Amino acid sequence: MPNHKKITAADIIAFKQKKSKITMLTAYDFLTAKIEDEAGIDIILVGDSLGMVVQGHTNTRQVTIEDMIYHTKTVARAVKTALIVGDMPYLTYETPDSALFNARKLISAGADVVKIEGNKPGIVKALKNNGIEVMGHIGLTPQTITSFKLQGKDAESKQRLLQEAQLLEDAGCFSIVLECIPVGLAQQITSQLTIPTIGIGAGAYCDGQVLVIHDLLGLFEAFKPKFVKQYARLAPMIREAISSYRSDVVSGKFPDQEHSYQ
Ligand code: KIV
Repeated sequence: MPNHKKITAADIIAFKQKKSKITMLTAYDFLTAKIEDEAGIDIILVGDSLGMVVQGHTNTRQVTIEDMIYHTKTVARAVKTALIVGDMPYLTYETPDSALFNARKLISAGADVVKIEGNKPGIVKALKNNGIEVMGHIGLTPQTITSFKLQGKDAESKQRLLQEAQLLEDAGCFSIVLECIPVGLAQQITSQLTIPTIGIGAGAYCDGQVLVIHDLLGLFEAFKPKFVKQYARLAPMIREAISSYRSDVVSGKFPDQEHSYQ
C-alpha cells in the first residue's frame, strides 16, 4: 500500500534537522501536480509565476486571489502527499487583516500553508497567530522588482538580507525561499537559521531547491535565467507533434482505420 501521509510544515523543518534536502516545484494544474506528487516532490507551490507561464503576462502582478483560488483547487484535487503552498498574490497581504482574509481563502481552496514575498514579519505573525503557517521569500521578489537581476551583491544589501531572514524566522516562518542571491550569502543565511532555506538561483548550500516547472521542462522559452536547468526540451517536441498532426489531417493520413470505429 503506498504511503499517502501528508507532509506538514513541521516535517519540512525536520528535513533540515536530518540534513535531508527538500525538493519543491511549482504546479498550477491537476495533471502536473499529480505527476510531481507521484514523483516524490516534497512541496508543491501554486506560484503566482502562473501569471507569466500560464496567463502570458510579463510579470506576476496581474494575478488575482481568484486566479490563485482556481489553480489551488485544481492542484489540491491531485495531491496526496506533498505540502501544498498557496502563493499570496501582489497587494493581497498589505495589512494583517487583508492577509488573514486572503490567506484563509487559499487554505479553503486546498493550500496547506501560504507564501508571502518580502520583509513582512508583522504579517507572518498575524497569520501564524491565526494558525496559518507561512513560507517567506526574500532576495529577488518578483512582485516588487523592476528587472530580474542578482540581489545581495554589495555589503549593505547582504547585511539587509541576513537581517530579513532572521526577522522572518523570529516572526514564525517555517521556511524561506531565497531567490537569485550569491552562493556565499545563501550559505550564510542557511547556517544562521534553524528553519530551512529553499533556493532558486541561490546555489547548492540551501536546505532545498525550487524551480518553476515550465522552466525545468523547457516549456517557457521567453528567457532562461542562468539558474534554470532544463531537464527536458518540451516546447520543440510539442511543436513537432502538433505540426505532424496538422500535416496528417491536411493530407488525409489521420484518422486512419486504427483510429476509427467500424
Ligand atoms: O511564484 C513562484 O513560482 C515562486 C518561485 C519562483 C519560488 O515564487
